[in-house]
Amino acid sequence: MTTPVNVTVTGAAGQIGYALLFRIASGQLLGADTPVKLRLLEIPQGVKAAEGTAMELEDCAFPLLAGIDIFDDPKTGFEGANVALLVGARPRTKGMERGDLLEANGGIFGPQGEAINAGAADDIRVLVVGNPANTNALIAQQHAPDVPAERFTAMTRLDHNRALSQLAAKTGAAVADIADLTIWGNHSATQYPDVFHATVAGKPASELVDRSWLESDFIPTVAKRGAAIIEARGASSAASAANAAIDHVHDWVNGTADGSWTSAAIVSDGSYGVPEGLISSFPVRAKGGRWEIVQGLEVNDFSRAKIDASVAELVEERDAVKGLGLI
Ligand code: NAD
Ligand code: LMR
Repeated sequence: MTTPVNVTVTGAAGQIGYALLFRIASGQLLGADTPVKLRLLEIPQGVKAAEGTAMELEDCAFPLLAGIDIFDDPKTGFEGANVALLVGARPRTKGMERGDLLEANGGIFGPQGEAINAGAADDIRVLVVGNPANTNALIAQQHAPDVPAERFTAMTRLDHNRALSQLAAKTGAAVADIADLTIWGNHSATQYPDVFHATVAGKPASELVDRSWLESDFIPTVAKRGAAIIEARGASSAASAANAAIDHVHDWVNGTADGSWTSAAIVSDGSYGVPEGLISSFPVRAKGGRWEIVQGLEVNDFSRAKIDASVAELVEERDAVKGLGLI
């Protein structure tokens, strides 16, 4: 049997964890030929619930599941990890200012970055899901100086999938007929879902939808979908977030389908005017286990302004965590 891949999942006892772990164990994250060992990292109060989830995982008798371990210490939780899904985060609670939120999360993602730096496997790939995902990923990355920066990513695949679905519904097309949508910037309400390069069954999407639908319907619906789900469900998206995490890592490891692209927040190399080092969403393809930013796309004035606004928010968040001494 092939050596199992160690997958560490933080926040394993949470909602997303519950929707995610069974899919990882069934082979949907890495493929049907790859056995996995799950390493569940929780805070001490979450360990008992994680033990319950581990019992259920055992009861599924997944042929690819080679073991489950539970930790409440990041140092041991990330030891030997090949893939790390950083889901657990400090949610914003009533009366909490943005600075408080960033600080609380700095207290989580700084030490996790250090633990990854100290003990993860050489091929570690990190996906941050816990919000504010881009800046949490930046904090973790900055605490892991020995790990190539490109191994730290944040999730905008859920936004990408939401955009695909909205455009398919509007044009009456199947999701599979849509190609080359992009989410730019931050996983927040400032994100920019861009259809100007997208095609629907080979036709430019911009010829099928008008500017007013884009501005007053599509962009706000996609960008505020997370809040709409919280409003409707009384809890943030969980199964769709887990699904997007599976899509992100699956593509990263196995490659995106020939020619087409997706969206992921990765460390900027300065492309498209996004300051180097920020973790921002781009159009990306995965090849040979690495994300590559799709180059050479024309950015019109409308898109430029929207990308700049979301990137400005990322710069503000970076400066705030710098000011707090978190990076
Ligand atoms: P949840 O509250 O149900 O679960 C979070 C879990 O994380 C809890 O079990 C908690 O004990 C654990 N946890 C907290 N701090 C931890 C730490 N330091 N180490 C390990 N575990 C820790 O939340 P959820 O619904 O699973 O969502 C998790 C995060 O994902 C939230 O920040 C949410 O906003 C975010 N989210 C992101 C996206 C995205 O697209 N990027 C989408 C949906 C949700
Ligand atoms: C989402 O996009 O569904 C979440 O990021 C919303 C949230 O604030 O948890």
